[in-house]
Amino acid sequence: MSDSFFIRGGSRLKGTIEVSGSKNSSLPIMASCLMASGRTVLKGVPRLSDTDSMVQLLAQLGCDVKRLEPKTAAGNIILNGPLEVEVMSEQQCWAPYDIVTTMRASICVLGPLLAKRGRARVAMPGGCSIGDRPIDLHLRGLAKLGVQFHIESGDVIGEVRGRMKGARMYLGGAQGPTVLGTINVMCAAALAEGETVLVGAACEPEVVDCAELLIKMGARIRGHGTPEIRIDGVDKLAACEHKIIPDRIEAGTFIIAAAITNGELELRNCELDHLISVVDLLESVGVHCERDGLTARVSTTRRLNPVEMTTQPYPGFPTDLQAQLLALLCLADGNSVVTERIFPDRFLHVGELNRMGARVRKEGATAIIQGVKDLQGATVMASDLRASAGLVLAALVAKGQTQIRRIYHIDRGYEKIEAKLNAVGATIERGPEKNM
Ligand code: EPU
Repeated sequence: MSDSFFIRGGSRLKGTIEVSGSKNSSLPIMASCLMASGRTVLKGVPRLSDTDSMVQLLAQLGCDVKRLEPKTAAGNIILNGPLEVEVMSEQQCWAPYDIVTTMRASICVLGPLLAKRGRARVAMPGGCSIGDRPIDLHLRGLAKLGVQFHIESGDVIGEVRGRMKGARMYLGGAQGPTVLGTINVMCAAALAEGETVLVGAACEPEVVDCAELLIKMGARIRGHGTPEIRIDGVDKLAACEHKIIPDRIEAGTFIIAAAITNGELELRNCELDHLISVVDLLESVGVHCERDGLTARVSTTRRLNPVEMTTQPYPGFPTDLQAQLLALLCLADGNSVVTERIFPDRFLHVGELNRMGARVRKEGATAIIQGVKDLQGATVMASDLRASAGLVLAALVAKGQTQIRRIYHIDRGYEKIEAKLNAVGATIERGPEKNM
């Protein structure tokens, strides 16, 4: 039986929280280390079950991966010290199904393996609780560089004869650009012969962070952060030291936590530039964020205004904060409308929020939220990482106790979330599932 969170709602959050390094930046950056010679040192990689899975996968692929655990002045071990990655053997090229199903970002090893080892076998990810997760754009982009793919026993197997060749290509799909697809092709192109131009590339800060790492390793990349990335292939990449950007989704989740509890939080290591659409939208809901370098101060007016929001690729409102915003809007003074453009089926939290007294109706890829006065504690089920975060936020303000089951989802992406929230006034306990 898996663990649950038991959350007693009703406290105003007040205090300071340190935002961790970005999960979605760390995973592809860790995979990129497959392409470098020497020992890469990554700072700010969060301790999460997803980063642990990536450590395991890199070890299976012949890397020596070590987490340094330096001590503070007081002698306490710093648990998320730098992570060191060094390739020791290039024999293995297989990311098997058991690891891909626990961590979809395993697909990030595809480009680096093909670029460096000339072949890769990665289990096809299949669907998940946020909907279909196709990889056709990754494969189309890599095929343009000269990779030949076939499917065998549920795995996609790619092979390159000789060296990959740079190409000009369009990487967008029906739902817009692809984040990990852009990163996969950018990684492979870094070691391809000649110039690659990615048109319709994803502009997310995680793509930029990975490009910055590759540049430190010796890659020649321009235009990252815009829809057109230009890469001049080089012969080899060498290890470097790199600090991961702050996690914008974790920061956004804490901003909404302050708002939903009518609290006041100071967030350290928070890059508000990466949250411009979120800050803008929350301003119209009645949430204020003030910036002082990498520190953000969040406060809120007691009355929350309803809004209309559609998730979009960066710099638009991120799909990874949709569930958390939806939880907040459940308590707004009026009707809100939330549309999901990136993953149209990502609404499993709606039924759970309704169990807590919310009034949300789903129509296709849109949720219509009728604000209520308050939410009540209940037993609810986490279905995916961000949906669970939405439920935690709702539970922080609900009357009585909420049990959130299957919190292994939240451990995939939020470092020590209960410790961070308890330190600013929340009451969250972790324990075995109970019948309440
Ligand atoms: N898509 C395709 N074909 C592809 C790839 C994507 O049609 O080959 C579609 C997807 O189905 C989706 C859209 O394109 O409709 C965008 O998907 P994208 O490829 O950008 O998603 P991803 O790269 O697989 C990353 C994050 C997700 C985040 C999305 C969107 C990581 C590890 N994952 O996924 O994060 O929701 O970008 O921003 O970086 C999470 O952290 O909870 C999470 C799910």
